[in-house]
Amino acid sequence: MDKNEELINLAHRRYATKKYDPNKHISDKDWNTIMEVARLSPSSMGFEPWQFLLIENDDLKQAMYDDAWGAQKSFNGADKFVIILARKNMDINSPHIKHMSEDVQGHAFDPNSPFAKKVISFQENDFKLNTARELFDWTSKQTYIPLANMMTTAAALDIDSCPIEGFNRANIDRILADHDVIDPEKWGTSVMVSFGYRDQAITPKKRQPMEAVYRVIK
Ligand SMILES: Cc1cc2nc3c(=O)[nH]c(=O)nc-3n(C[C@H](O)[C@H](O)[C@H](O)COP(=O)(O)O)c2cc1C
Repeated sequence: MDKNEELINLAHRRYATKKYDPNKHISDKDWNTIMEVARLSPSSMGFEPWQFLLIENDDLKQAMYDDAWGAQKSFNGADKFVIILARKNMDINSPHIKHMSEDVQGHAFDPNSPFAKKVISFQENDFKLNTARELFDWTSKQTYIPLANMMTTAAALDIDSCPIEGFNRANIDRILADHDVIDPEKWGTSVMVSFGYRDQAITPKKRQPMEAVYRVIK
C-alpha cells in the first residue's frame, strides 16, 4: 500500500466512536504522542490560544454528565476524556500575547510596533473581532486544529476517538469554575474529545460526493 492509500484508509479508520471498551487503556507512549501532536499544532500568529484538560476526576465527570449530553457515551468507557479550552479576550492588550511574543517566540513585545499594529488591524478590520464573543469564537475555532490532529494521530495508532460539541457551554464553564479548574474570565470550553478503544464495528463513511464539496476555480 502506498502512502496515499494509507492516508485515505486512515480517514476511513477514524470515526466518531459511540461505544468504548472500558477495560482497554491507551499506553503512556501513545498518549504522549497524541498530546505532543496537539502541542505542535499551528495557531494564528503562533499565539496558541488553548489549553488541554485531561479529566481524570470522576466527581467532575459526574458533575458534567447531564450538561455534556453528547459526551455521555464517552464518559461510559472512554479511557481519556479531554476538554479543549479557548482563551478569552485575546486582543493586543492581553498578557498572553506579550508572554508568547517575549517568552516563546523570542522577540521584544512593543504595543506600538509594526507587528502589534498588524495584529490590531487584523483583529479590528480584517476579521472584525471586536467583541468578547467574536474574540472567543476566533480562539475557539483554532482549537479545532489540534482536535483534528489528535484524532488523526489516534487513528494512526489504532486508537478510537469522538469529537464532542454536545454540551451546554455556560453550564460546563460554571462547573469547571466551581471546581477551581478554570478562571472563567480567562478561559471558556471550546470542544471536548474522547479517546479509547471501540466496542463496536467501525462505521462506514457517509459523505457527499467530491464534486459537491470541491470546486477548482480557473
Ligand atoms: C465538531 C463536532 C462535534 C460533534 N459532537 C458530537 C457529540 O457531541 N457527540 C457525539 O457522539 N458525536 C459528535 N460528533 C460526531 C459526528 O456526529 C460525526 O463525526 C459525524 O456524524 C461523521 O461521522 P464520522 O466521524 O464517524 O465519520 C461531533 C463531530 C464534530 C466534528
